[in-house]
Amino acid sequence: MSECWVPAGATVCELCGTFKSDSVTHIVAENNSGSDVLEWLQLQNIKASSEFELLDISWLIECMGAGKPVEMAGRHQLVVRRNPSLSPVPGSQTVPPPPMQKISQYACQRRTTLNNHNQLFTDAFDILAENYEFRENEVSCLPFMRAASVLKSLSFPIVSMKDIEGIPCLGDKVKCVIEGIIEDGESSEVKAVLNDERYKSFKLFTSVFGVGLKTAEKWFRMGFRTLSKIKSDKSLRFTHMQKAGFLYYEDLVSCVNRAEAEAVSMLVKEAVVAFLPDALVTMTGGFRRGKMTGHDVDFLITSPEATEEEEQQLLHKVTNFWRQQGLLLYCDIIESTFEKFKLPSRKVDALDHFQKCFLILKLHRGLVRSEESGQQEGKDWKAIRVDLVMCPYERRAFALLGWTGSRQFERDLRRYATHERKMMLDNHALYDKTKRVFLEAESEEEIFAHLGLDYIEPWERNA
Ligand code: CTP
Ligand code: MN
Ligand code: MN
Repeated sequence: MSECWVPAGATVCELCGTFKSDSVTHIVAENNSGSDVLEWLQLQNIKASSEFELLDISWLIECMGAGKPVEMAGRHQLVVRRNPSLSPVPGSQTVPPPPMQKISQYACQRRTTLNNHNQLFTDAFDILAENYEFRENEVSCLPFMRAASVLKSLSFPIVSMKDIEGIPCLGDKVKCVIEGIIEDGESSEVKAVLNDERYKSFKLFTSVFGVGLKTAEKWFRMGFRTLSKIKSDKSLRFTHMQKAGFLYYEDLVSCVNRAEAEAVSMLVKEAVVAFLPDALVTMTGGFRRGKMTGHDVDFLITSPEATEEEEQQLLHKVTNFWRQQGLLLYCDIIESTFEKFKLPSRKVDALDHFQKCFLILKLHRGLVRSEESGQQEGKDWKAIRVDLVMCPYERRAFALLGWTGSRQFERDLRRYATHERKMMLDNHALYDKTKRVFLEAESEEEIFAHLGLDYIEPWERNA
């Protein structure tokens, strides 16, 4: 016997890190079937040599008693059910599969990092979901969004239809697309969407800041297919937001990178602290989840000491300061409609009531620490979308959780609270309907604990 594995919970992870899997000759388990062990190895992406023995712990105990390896008998052998995707084990018997650890239908009970093993499938679902969104068909959109979300959480790539057995949120339409991609490497349905006139136009039009579904629909019906025709049309009227969207279009469609986000963070912190020295500024959104790029940079601002008046004034002072410096390219401040005792919203996609502003800032290249010198001729700055949210200090944990996303993670948190806990959660508060009380929290960890959920780190919320 050269090496031995004991797949029993936590210890096994430590063992796998240190053992060379190709030199393993015996795998020993306690209270697991052979199928359990093989599936577990496959889920961890561990390729053990096909020569190993799968044995019950009783064999190891007998060995230790004897002080040497004892002869392996049938009673030591672990049972493996027949499964074509797993390598056959000699001498194994066939029994019904024991259930593996179940994958939850809720994103808030899954850990979803940015390491997506199934991008081929999730990209396809994202496109199909978006197409239904453009057609305002929520009933068809949701299953594809949920399917994309659950596949993003898998620790292995799907290669055959067998691999998706037991995975939740995969209905017949979804399975059909998966099958198509497994067989042909692509989905005919996705291909059709990508060539669809309406989809292409909506995608293009909504890429302009300030253009939503209503406007895209109108322009599409009027026969427009390109942005240049729209921009130069004298009969169309544009909102301030859309005018800014066209003016800074190139900068805004090229994503914000991490170096740029960090530079914006410095600008925001400097300006905020100048007016409210005790204020806390936290980068939220995709960058807090570890993403390397984003369509904007999001920040949550709160202050333990500020009066209501000071709190309300801060975003005005900060944006006026940038305006004077010529850095404010677009600014829309939404005043707070927050009320202390308002119950959390029942809608999963409801907007919050905190004071906030949607901005476009001028970021000078000199402030960005970056290797790449991809500068445009004659322009030493880039327009960047920035969201600032101001919240009362005692609500900071709820606001942080709500503004960290992802959107799908937030939706499932609220759905879980409602359906599994009889609670109501939004960006401001958590309310227990059974006890009829608001549950307070100083940190995100406490909110997860109130909900009876294991804590999920921000970088595991990329659902
Ligand atoms: N959010 C919100 N209310 C809004 C806008 C956003 O609660 N009016 C929350 C959403 O839960 C979202 C998060 O704030 O997950 C960040 O929003 P957004 O910037 O749109 O998305 P990101 O996840 O940051 O993605 P991106 O990198 O594209 O910016
Ligand atoms: Mn964002
Ligand atoms: Mn945002």
